Amino acid sequence: MLGKRICVGWNRLFLCMPVVILIVHLLSVTELNQQNNFGGVHKKKPRKSDHLILGPAAGEGLPDRLQCQGTKALSKMHFGTSLNNSRSPDRVALVTVFTIYNSTVESRPADLVTVGNISYGKLERSMAILNIFVNFIQAVMPQSNVIILTDPASELPLNRDMVTIQPIQGEYSRDKLMLQRIRSYIAFLESRLEGLNENQEQVTHFIFTDSDIAVIDDLGQIFTDYPDFDLALTFRNNKDQPLNSGFIAVRGTVEGIKRGKAFLQEVLKVYSSRFMESSRMLGDQLALAWVIKSHPNFNTRRFSKREAFLDKIGGASVLFLPCSVYNWTPPEGAGQFHGMPLDVKVVHFKGSRKRLMLESWNFFSSSSNLSDMLCLILKSGRTKYDF
Ligand SMILES: *[C@@H]1O[C@H](CO)[C@@H](O)[C@H](O)[C@H]1NC(C)=O
Ligand SMILES: *[C@@H]1O[C@H](CO)[C@@H](O)[C@H](O)[C@H]1NC(C)=O
Ligand SMILES: *[C@@H]1O[C@H](CO)[C@@H](O)[C@H](O)[C@H]1NC(C)=O
Ligand SMILES: *[C@@H]1O[C@H](CO)[C@@H](O)[C@H](O)[C@H]1NC(C)=O
Repeated sequence: MLGKRICVGWNRLFLCMPVVILIVHLLSVTELNQQNNFGGVHKKKPRKSDHLILGPAAGEGLPDRLQCQGTKALSKMHFGTSLNNSRSPDRVALVTVFTIYNSTVESRPADLVTVGNISYGKLERSMAILNIFVNFIQAVMPQSNVIILTDPASELPLNRDMVTIQPIQGEYSRDKLMLQRIRSYIAFLESRLEGLNENQEQVTHFIFTDSDIAVIDDLGQIFTDYPDFDLALTFRNNKDQPLNSGFIAVRGTVEGIKRGKAFLQEVLKVYSSRFMESSRMLGDQLALAWVIKSHPNFNTRRFSKREAFLDKIGGASVLFLPCSVYNWTPPEGAGQFHGMPLDVKVVHFKGSRKRLMLESWNFFSSSSNLSDMLCLILKSGRTKYDF
């Protein structure tokens, strides 16, 4: 922000100089530190913690936020509540894109991290995250299937009930992964359309998510609570990136799938034409926001409230769900989310919080208490961890 303000002047080149030099210097210092860490010569304290650090719980004193004493929940969470108590016979499948890289497989012994009393290399860590993703779904939505879309070239060492691995051809290299992910979603929806007819008795809805999430309440309810949407996205009050691509729901009817697919194709088009320089990260979120905001009557001010709303975008009826409930992330819990709402349904362990995902599952499997586990997450999520 400072950089921008300085650069507005007529003699912008001159004024920008000090800033540029500072940034280059900071970058090289960071690199130096990394080199030292790799070399292992200077035994510095690691910047990121290798164990959970419990801090204060954000949202303390707020009646609609989780209150904790230690890792004991004092509030009653609103699990299983819906706007609409009609039970639906429909099914829900969670769909994620997951692939393994050669560099992951070939990790060195020095890359080991320990959680509980198990040590994980890079591959084991990735697989633990995927397994815990499945564990949470099977704990809170036991009727739901999990579908993993993957590179036909990668062999996932995963064999679990209610989990299907569906290879989809594509280019899954790290720097193309976000682009490929949308392509895989589209190819998946296409494969589902085949053999589906208008009078399907059993409908299966799809929720596409990142795999570093914990589902902690039944997500099937959105399809009955909001019976009119084709596609659902999660939003937050962030000007540049109001939409998170880590949660996209598509109604499993023929119409829903067709419109969801057309919407994603539009996002892919915008991504490929405008945001290719961001193909490794964030490009999909920028493209999503672009598609939504370029819709003439869209009122972005609705992103500042924590309420779900529907809008027509292109041919699709799009449901916007608040991230604070459907895509709650630990660092934002201490920031714009102001703690953890009592109706939270999905926790997203973004960035360096994968350790917390493993620790949370361990905690839940020994306590069987989701509310207490949420206190653990709320209190320890401000810290960045070693993976
Ligand atoms: C979870 O623990 C809290 C207190 O820590 C308790 O009030 C609640 O009843 C427990 N829930 C379950 C399902 O055991
Ligand atoms: C990974 O390794 C296998 C076997 O060594 C090789 O065939 C494959 O091309 C490699 N994949 C990538 C993406 O480098
Ligand atoms: C591993 O941890 C569990 C739970 O903390 C404990 O019961 C068990 O004894 C530990 N096992 C070993 C080999 O340390
Ligand atoms: C409740 O669900 C039914 C069946 O899907 C739907 O027709 C109705 O509109 C829903 N009501 C509300 C208030 O959402």
